[in-house]
Amino acid sequence: MKIDVMPGDITKSDSDAIIINLFEGVTSPSGATGAVDKLLSNAISLLISDGEIKGKAGEMTLLHTMGRITPKRVLIAGLGKQTDFSTERIRSVAADSVRYLENIGVTEATTIAHGAGIGAQTAIDSGRAISEGALLGLYKFNKYKSAEQKADFNRLTIMESSDDKIRELRKGANEGVILAESVNMCRDMCNEPANGMTPSDMAEVALKVAKAQNLNLKVLERPQMKELGMGALLGVAQGSHEPPKFIIMSYEGDPDNQKNNIGLLGKGITFDSGGLDIKSAAGMSTMKSDMSGGASVISAMNAIGNLKPKINVTAIVPATENMPGGGAQRPGDVVKAMNGKTIEIDNTDAEGRLVLADAVAYANSIGLNRIIDVATLTGAISIALGNQCIGAFGNDQEFTNHVIESGNSVGERIWELPTFKEYEGQYSSDIADIKNTGGRGAGSITGALIINEFNASASWVHLDIAAMARTSKTSGVNIKGATGIPVRTLVKLVQNLGS
Ligand code: BES
Ligand code: MN
Ligand code: ZN
Repeated sequence: MKIDVMPGDITKSDSDAIIINLFEGVTSPSGATGAVDKLLSNAISLLISDGEIKGKAGEMTLLHTMGRITPKRVLIAGLGKQTDFSTERIRSVAADSVRYLENIGVTEATTIAHGAGIGAQTAIDSGRAISEGALLGLYKFNKYKSAEQKADFNRLTIMESSDDKIRELRKGANEGVILAESVNMCRDMCNEPANGMTPSDMAEVALKVAKAQNLNLKVLERPQMKELGMGALLGVAQGSHEPPKFIIMSYEGDPDNQKNNIGLLGKGITFDSGGLDIKSAAGMSTMKSDMSGGASVISAMNAIGNLKPKINVTAIVPATENMPGGGAQRPGDVVKAMNGKTIEIDNTDAEGRLVLADAVAYANSIGLNRIIDVATLTGAISIALGNQCIGAFGNDQEFTNHVIESGNSVGERIWELPTFKEYEGQYSSDIADIKNTGGRGAGSITGALIINEFNASASWVHLDIAAMARTSKTSGVNIKGATGIPVRTLVKLVQNLGS
């Protein structure tokens, strides 16, 4: 899909459809909506007074113009209450409106810059949110569908009458394209079945991104992992025929200041059967996307390499399957992680923290002083928070706050849970330094704290995305399946730290 920003009067656009908007409660529209209303003999204000158009969030009203103005159709998108307005609303409106048009066979349209007028958003934010919304809302994963698909919506023009906003709109729209394409890359990886997204396939995607964005890439193979003492990751990998890959990508945005760095770590379990502590059929059904954290950091690197913030960024993905093959690790086994700590395997299904243990220890060893790990770590996070936000855990309040603020500003909500020292007692082992589970209570917290056991020195935040990586219904920017969360949060965080 192509997105353009053009100066001009939208009522004269030669598009098949124009998209305008209306706040809830407005009875006589102004701006572009008002101009269209006048040219259509007050059709819009009449429909408002009849109660057919209310301006509620998500409301879509299509008018046919019958030759009275150049564009054949006018789509009036409800913006909801002005007091609830935000860039997140712009994204949803853009997503819903292009999806509406595509469903009725319209493949090209011109939109006004939602929010840049009485919505009081900056032109750059409006442009960014419109391109993000449109590209995210039209996402499809249809590579395995053999039947001919109907025509895709393929061109959106953002039209603005005041010349002074064009440059900023264009800048925002271009950034939105980079961000949305990176989110959709993440969705593609997570929607891909496990037989098409093995650890080797993840390394292939990382190579493609590294080539496209000119990043450094290193992929460690089993012998190198052995040499480094990554016993926790290797223990998980030993039940599968797929070779594990330890993927390291780096971007140098501040080469003269090596200490200005951050590590983005992502759980890369390309299929989680549970291992010998095997999952139920229902529990296993979505476990192809247990590499969502890993996919999100690789995809974030795609945007970071493109946007070039002034900071050094390293992405690390410990990638493996968790399978119950004949060589699989057993409950009760003891493994040793790269930092020398021993772990009793209490449950082979608590594998995310094991692979991240070695990733965190490796991050320390290469001098990363801030690390954020992203993982579909625990089912317990959906009990604690449901599916409205990501769970955050950290050891440095200032850094945690930065992460949460970055998430909020891009519409990916994050909520912090405590990491009190007292929880640590829950995962003590009789025979090893720790065990890999912490019992029934506070399962997401003990999971997080176990990861931090392998971190000696860095400021650390863990994001548990188990409840957010997939969605069961299409709405706004989200399409049923993988969400691509938290790619935009990661990019925003890196941009904030690097400016
Ligand atoms: N990948 C799962 C967590 C998960 C569950 C992600 C549901 C997405 C949806 C993780 O590896 C896991 O199995 N966690 C266990 C931990 C337990 C054995 C301590 C869990 O949550 O039950
Ligand atoms: Mn598991
Ligand atoms: Zn898992």
